[in-house]
Amino acid sequence: MNSEANKERQSIIITICSTKGGVGKTTLAANIGGLLVDLEYKVLLIDGDIQPGLSSYYSIKKYSKSGLSQLIKNEGNLQDCISNTVIPNLDIVISNDPDGIIQDWITGMPAGRITLKGALDNLRSFYDFIIIDSQGANSPLQHTTVLAADILVSPIPPDIVSSREFQRGTLGMLKLLEPLSGLTSLGQLYGLIYRKDRTKDAQLFSDELTSMTFQESKSKIRILNTMVPSLVAYKNASTDKTPVHKIDQRANETMCELVSEILPNLANQCKRFRETTK
Ligand SMILES: Nc1ncnc2c1ncn2[C@@H]1O[C@H](COP(=O)(O)OP(=O)(O)OP(=O)(O)O)[C@@H](O)[C@H]1O
Ligand SMILES: [Mg+2]
Repeated sequence: MNSEANKERQSIIITICSTKGGVGKTTLAANIGGLLVDLEYKVLLIDGDIQPGLSSYYSIKKYSKSGLSQLIKNEGNLQDCISNTVIPNLDIVISNDPDGIIQDWITGMPAGRITLKGALDNLRSFYDFIIIDSQGANSPLQHTTVLAADILVSPIPPDIVSSREFQRGTLGMLKLLEPLSGLTSLGQLYGLIYRKDRTKDAQLFSDELTSMTFQESKSKIRILNTMVPSLVAYKNASTDKTPVHKIDQRANETMCELVSEILPNLANQCKRFRETTK
């Protein structure tokens, strides 16, 4: 692990979540993490999906012997769960449970859904940000990753079917977890219009989504002004194992705008970064 403990540091934990598969969670987690590293922060990525997409987004320099299963159980030395990517200051907890055995462990333990949050509290002094990718299905594993977050970001494709799925699925899942919010308060949820194309009136869709979700969630969710366009650069960046802001100016702008909006304290830093990388 390339990060030193620092008592002043208190990581912010961001979970990318949706109950729908294939909406861009892994891509977002990898790229938010990649940008934060270029803003000179220490970042830990966690692949919280049984299908290990995030684990292979970046090349790994040094694999550790343990990973997601041991982290969720808060078992042994947590440093042993952390692998190093080839990018300095970007570490990762690899998904190492292809059969999903951890789901039974989480269900079977009285505090199973909040053990991950406890484990991450022990890592907060090592990282500025912890970014968690989650499973695209309502499952015990997804609940643990959602309950661990300070901030939740949910990508929503701009079509009516996806917006209904967002309300029924993602907001329904949060409602289900609300009784646990006495044990661990739920993070602020941001909806992110994701993969918008030119043919759709995304602003109109965003306004509709805002009014629909506002009534339902009583302002606990905010639809972000930033919208991520559908762009082949995101796929190319993943093939190149690199953050998308490094290979595409438009994506650089979008990712900076997104990070500024969910982390307003970084807005000036993002602006300076944009100016120097134009
Ligand atoms: N902004 C974008 N524009 C175009 N393609 C994108 C964009 N973001 C992601 N993709 C592509 O969409 C596909 C699905 O993205 P991704 O794997 O990130 O979704 P996911 O929500 O993690 O899926 P799963 O639920 O299966 O884990 C990938 O092939 C990815 O390269
Ligand atoms: Mg994924």
